[in-house]
Amino acid sequence: MRLFVALSLPDEVRLSLSHLCCGLPGVRWVAPENFHVTLRFIGEVDGGTADDIDAALCAIRAPAFTLELGGVGHFGDDSKVRAVWAGVRPHPALQHLHDKIESAVVRAGVKPDGQRFRPHVTLARPNQPPPPSKMQAFLAQHGLYRSRPFEVTHFTIYSSFTGGEGPYYRAECSYELAPATVSVR
Ligand code: 2AM
Repeated sequence: MRLFVALSLPDEVRLSLSHLCCGLPGVRWVAPENFHVTLRFIGEVDGGTADDIDAALCAIRAPAFTLELGGVGHFGDDSKVRAVWAGVRPHPALQHLHDKIESAVVRAGVKPDGQRFRPHVTLARPNQPPPPSKMQAFLAQHGLYRSRPFEVTHFTIYSSFTGGEGPYYRAECSYELAPATVSVR
């Protein structure tokens, strides 16, 4: 099975992202139900490794936190755009959670990732690079995009399937984060 670990997004945030998804010819827009923040792409594993990954993720202790999305951008240079995304506002707890997940999956036998974590929500993947003028207009138009803040209370491992109508992601298991502590005087 092909696995990845990600944060799901509240309906309202997915709706706000779906409003960004126009104005770039030649791209495949991601379906709103598929929007997510990838924490770790794992790839193809066998059932035994999947069980080990599940056990390692179950053992993670990390606090819940509040996240916001903000801005838009793309991977790849202007003439070779690989993905168009909405950004995630930096949060130390998100990096902390990512690092714990990375250690857990490596402990379970997956090869280390080695790439810098650049949290984002992929909005589109080009079939062909969008015209630079359209890309610039898109970035200018949505540069001030902000989602409402939302609580991240769990993370999820998904399996991914390819189909005629695009990828299908199935949530296999979710892992709760510890409730944020509230200081009481
Ligand atoms: P992204 O869209 O957040 O960049 C499920 O396939 C998710 O895993 C994709 O949405 C993509 O995340 C990420 N992904 C897929 N293939 C990948 C690969 N070869 N390397 C890294 N991440 C990948």
